[in-house]
Amino acid sequence: MNTADLFNQLVRNRRSVFPDQFDAGKKVDDTTVKEILTNAIWAPNHGKEEPWQFTVFTGEGLKTLADFQSELYKQEAGDNFKEATYIKLQNQPLKASHIIAIGMKRSVNKNIPEVEDICAVACAVENMYLSLTAYGLGGYWTTGGITYKEKAKAFFGLGDNDRLLGFFYIGYIAVPSTSAKRQPLEEKVKWVKE
Ligand SMILES: Cc1cc2nc3c(=O)[nH]c(=O)nc-3n(C[C@H](O)[C@H](O)[C@H](O)COP(=O)(O)O)c2cc1C
Repeated sequence: MNTADLFNQLVRNRRSVFPDQFDAGKKVDDTTVKEILTNAIWAPNHGKEEPWQFTVFTGEGLKTLADFQSELYKQEAGDNFKEATYIKLQNQPLKASHIIAIGMKRSVNKNIPEVEDICAVACAVENMYLSLTAYGLGGYWTTGGITYKEKAKAFFGLGDNDRLLGFFYIGYIAVPSTSAKRQPLEEKVKWVKE
């Protein structure tokens, strides 16, 4: 197969794989995770600002993340506290091999709109998604839990002007995702030729 055909297949077969589908306890090599992160940082970004900041949790670090996010949820939930959510925040991380907290460090050059820093980080995450697929690993981007809590930022080395954009879970696949569908191209693309 030529490179373009291979790449088309890789992109179209990429699927989110969720923690309950992971082979819990099976560890991905840190070296592979570094390769995935290296692909992430080769994403396009405006002004060469490279506005990503990743924190990798693995081993006992997964418990550290689980404790942090469940306790922050408890602190902030008030009357809306739900025991099931607390337990999920405790348990989900432990199913993964590695979890990468996805941070956006705001560009120093303020001529670059914030949305462009966010877009650059999203490009980096897509590189991670595609890399996982190439390695036969599973994972997904979640923006649930404490993602948008201001008080979470400092734990991930992020300041007031930065943003936490979620978490990228990585694991070996025990139960593959089923095939997915997309709307026809014609519904999403308009061509202008004259
Ligand atoms: C910005 C972003 C945030 C997401 N957040 C969540 C999430 O919080 N929970 C979740 O189950 N999936 C989340 N996903 C993954 C989507 O559920 C998944 O991409 C979608 O179902 C399409 O499936 P696919 O990735 O296999 O094509 C997120 C994806 C993106 C791009």
